[in-house]
Amino acid sequence: MSNAARPKIAVIGGTGMNSWPGLAIEERVEAMTPYGASSAPLLFGSVYGVRACFLARHGEGHKIPPHLINYRANLWALKQAGIEKIIAIAAVGGITEGYAPARVGVPVDAIDYTYGRDHTYSDGTDRWSLHHVEMAEPYSQSLRRVLLDSAQSAGVAISDGGVMAITQGPRLETPAEIRRLRQDGCDLVGMTSFPEAPLARELGLDYACLAVSVNWGAGIGSGGIHDEIEKSMEQGMTKVRAVLGKALPA
Ligand code: HPA
Repeated sequence: MSNAARPKIAVIGGTGMNSWPGLAIEERVEAMTPYGASSAPLLFGSVYGVRACFLARHGEGHKIPPHLINYRANLWALKQAGIEKIIAIAAVGGITEGYAPARVGVPVDAIDYTYGRDHTYSDGTDRWSLHHVEMAEPYSQSLRRVLLDSAQSAGVAISDGGVMAITQGPRLETPAEIRRLRQDGCDLVGMTSFPEAPLARELGLDYACLAVSVNWGAGIGSGGIHDEIEKSMEQGMTKVRAVLGKALPA
């Protein structure tokens, strides 16, 4: 299929949405890029009566941990296939009330605590000229608005804003780390939104995150984190599907 015939919007799914059962797949693109292969084939198809693209961030079978995801290949592959807008689904831990377990939200800012990831296309070669991309608005305001309006028309309560902490993973944080993140002004914590968002910016792609809180950060809740994740994941993902149903353009 030519890029002109393909949809322009993609969903990157992660933990809790590693596949998209509703998507009737029309085309699988095994993407190869100058940075290697994408985590999984790009899946183009129809869902909710509209056409869209899906990429499983952690690979088919959910095997690739957050620090080993080839983010550069993933974003490059989407750009190469003609994608212009990306809705990134991220399961996160909640730090403040707006991100209590099973709530969904659209973060507005972020702090990157990751290290050692290939986080830019600027590699000092002629392949890519040096850009100091602006991150004053790390998530696309227009795409954030689409998600917020979609939640409203789907009747899903959604948090507008919040600062996302991105930690290295795959382990979860200690209680002291969560206290530090809270002191830093973070409202939610995930492991993949960076370098995804800045790489999308380098490529000129519109990128926003639809975050689903699946647990309280360590030391905040009373029970075990994995029990909480099990309880909240499906509830949160049902909301994500409802929001996506309104957000994807015909
Ligand atoms: N921390 C970091 N990432 C996460 C968490 C968490 O508590 N829950 C889901 N993703």
